[in-house]
Amino acid sequence: MKQINTFFIRTYGCQMNELDSEILCTQLLNRNLKKVEDENEADLLIFNTCSIRDLAEQKVLGKLGSYKKHKKDKIIGVCGCMPMTKKNLLQEYPHIDFVIGTNNLLSINEILDEILTKRVQINFTETDYEKNLESFFPERINKVKASISIIRGCNNFCSYCIVPQTRGREISRDYKTIIEEANYLANHGYKEITLLGQNVNSYGKDKPEWKILFHDLLYELDKINGIERIRFMTSHPKDITIDLMKAIRDLNKICEFVHFPLQSGSNEILNKMNRKYTSENYLEKVNLLREIVPDVSIGTDIIVGFPSETDENFEDTYNLFKKISYDVAFIFAYSPRENTLAYKFSDNVPKETKDARLQKLLNLYHEILEHKYKSQIGSIKEVLVERLNKDNLLLKGRTRKFEKVIFAGQPDLIGTLQKVKISSFNHQTLIGDIINK
Ligand code: 5AD
Ligand code: SF4
Repeated sequence: MKQINTFFIRTYGCQMNELDSEILCTQLLNRNLKKVEDENEADLLIFNTCSIRDLAEQKVLGKLGSYKKHKKDKIIGVCGCMPMTKKNLLQEYPHIDFVIGTNNLLSINEILDEILTKRVQINFTETDYEKNLESFFPERINKVKASISIIRGCNNFCSYCIVPQTRGREISRDYKTIIEEANYLANHGYKEITLLGQNVNSYGKDKPEWKILFHDLLYELDKINGIERIRFMTSHPKDITIDLMKAIRDLNKICEFVHFPLQSGSNEILNKMNRKYTSENYLEKVNLLREIVPDVSIGTDIIVGFPSETDENFEDTYNLFKKISYDVAFIFAYSPRENTLAYKFSDNVPKETKDARLQKLLNLYHEILEHKYKSQIGSIKEVLVERLNKDNLLLKGRTRKFEKVIFAGQPDLIGTLQKVKISSFNHQTLIGDIINK
């Protein structure tokens, strides 16, 4: 192939990966390539991958396998987390043209040039932080809300987690470029920003000379005209501070939603997970947060079936989940990851037990939501209209507390704040009607 005109990009995994795809995509658009939604029409295929669980990897490997025989005249690249841990991708999949790791996003065009001229396989998976990325402001897919990366990497080494290997150690982004990017987004009409980091509460700790910690950054960002809402994720429970809780209370734009992953309610398991808190510490922080920010919404991630998790350990998780009555929850079955600390432990909870525990917790979560959503019928919510709903008929937006709301309205309302009266709900979505002013 001498030339490429079109590209297709598929993103797996978290919001950081979505943002990284936007960074890749912007550079390809700047190269005058056309983005297509059908992979069959693309000259260049990019898979931006996730390694967090085996299932995420299997999906990508299946996809790559399917191109082994039918590659035709395409260039195929694998980016993101998988190339950071799977060092043999190019050997195992000789039809892949290049792999790029999480720290080489800005090299995509150089790599394509080299492939087009020399037709060689290229592996670019540096572990060094890509400093230039800080001043690269990508085009976003959604025109109302945008993610901004504020800290990359993780120092926590939770025993089950591959992220410290795929994304390296914590490096805070220079606060000046964060504020610049937030201003840039405000000037381009964005209404909401989400500050991203594996652990946003560590922001600034690696750069004591800045004298700016996470809550200080929030005070600065709250001043930006045009931005209506600021969200952030994820907060490690061991690092959340009273200063942050007060910032959520005192700053108008900071949404009252904290993603605060518990992972397990059992102290024995938390210890084996290397989470560095107990269920008692965690609950104390939740209570304090609720005291300082009444009506705050709390989200969690839970892993069931961690090695040696007994029925009693799981009951501890179940009971704490019920007590806290989470507003948002992501529940996962433990998946062993090579080269993590927990990989040494035997993955000894049978799959059926993991599935049953996951289902039990999901049922509890749905009961909690149903109860909460029922009590909201008739209430009026402020909703930021984000886009058309999947059916392309209704509008979709979110409340400050991250509840999804759908309602009828004209597409020109996208990007505005509307008052919506809730009339019913369906699974995890509130349904309502706009109240005309
Ligand atoms: N198995 C299952 N879930 C995991 N997570 C991270 N690593 C694993 C694993 N090995 C979950 C955690 C984390 C979320 C992003 O993914 O709950 O908070
Ligand atoms: Fe993984 Fe723990 Fe870091 Fe989160 S805090 S990314 S779970 S190691």
